[in-house]
Amino acid sequence: MMNRQWLIDGQPRGRAMRESDFKEQSIELAPLGADCARVKVEVLGFDPSMKGQMENIGYAAATSQGDVMGANGIGEVVESNDPGLKVGDKVTGRLCWQEYATVRARDVQTVPNDDLLTARLGPLGGTGLTAYFGLLRHGRPQPGDTLVVSGAAGATGSIVGQLGRLAGCRVIGIAGGEKKCRWLVDELQYNGAIDYKNELLKVRLKELCPGGVDVFFDNVGGAILNDVLARIALGARVVVCGGISRYEAEDLPAGPANYMNLVFQRATMAGFLVTDYASEFSRAHRRLEAWLRSGELQYREDVQEGFENIPATLLRLFSGKNFGKQLLRL
Ligand SMILES: NC(=O)c1ccc[n+]([C@@H]2O[C@H](COP(=O)([O-])OP(=O)(O)OC[C@H]3O[C@@H](n4cnc5c(N)ncnc54)[C@H](OP(=O)(O)O)[C@@H]3O)[C@@H](O)[C@H]2O)c1
Repeated sequence: MMNRQWLIDGQPRGRAMRESDFKEQSIELAPLGADCARVKVEVLGFDPSMKGQMENIGYAAATSQGDVMGANGIGEVVESNDPGLKVGDKVTGRLCWQEYATVRARDVQTVPNDDLLTARLGPLGGTGLTAYFGLLRHGRPQPGDTLVVSGAAGATGSIVGQLGRLAGCRVIGIAGGEKKCRWLVDELQYNGAIDYKNELLKVRLKELCPGGVDVFFDNVGGAILNDVLARIALGARVVVCGGISRYEAEDLPAGPANYMNLVFQRATMAGFLVTDYASEFSRAHRRLEAWLRSGELQYREDVQEGFENIPATLLRLFSGKNFGKQLLRL
């Protein structure tokens, strides 16, 4: 039996990603080794850090040209010599850009085949945990706080805003396009949304945050970060989750001109990595699952299809084409 795979074939540091940064290969599957299981990959998850993974910027395991592109996925065990996995089990883990993954039980997590199956790549996976620990530990939201979220309609941002709402905050989202902004207000009950592609961010921030911004959860960086820094309140917490506006830049911009406002407002600005909280994932998981099941937390998936469309699907994140957690069904 053959296994189709996508290999890394480019180094996108300092430039936009291209589909040609990957090349397809088809190889014969080797007989299954002792204590191993074969998983048919069904759904892959995508997130912007996959570009950073290829650039070897130091926070994830190093990659090389010719490696099968790494990614989290969900699949079904189709053959097993591992007593910890049986045929028909659904598993999640680092299954990578390929049709079949060879794994051991310790490399994957067996998950129930229920209505939240694919949520385990989004709000019940690294995405939800990033929102949870970034907001609750670093943003420290208090009832009545004004929380501003950038990348607000994205996988992480949309969970952050809702967790802020549950914590009693007034929530303002910043997102690209009217459709995304309408979803934030109409469906997720944000108190307001700013379409940064079509509205004047500075003007709208002033209108929507008259008392200043107590917590800013930033997924974007660049000009958006700078404009929000100008409006932070006394004692504000600026949480640096990511900086997607920089990920494809050739020359990195100088730091935000308004950073001195951190001094005037006695504010803090801190970055974090979700992996720092691994020992606390199971409790966070239980809380996120309860909120999802009760409907207090909603999520949206953007599901592309087809093995051949895997590279193009990753590129969608950098142009904002994705609306919700970017997934692909093989
Ligand atoms: N610290 C951590 O541990 C950790 C873990 C996971 C993810 N992250 C970070 O979290 C952020 C969100 O990741 P995600 O997986 O949830 O992706 P996502 O938000 O679902 O998708 C990326 C979104 O970024 C926005 N975007 C793209 N280019 C932009 C630009 N130049 N300016 C402004 N917005 C832009 C687009 O939304 P619009 O249509 O609204 O522009 C796009 O939909 C990323 O920065 C990622 O690196 C951090």
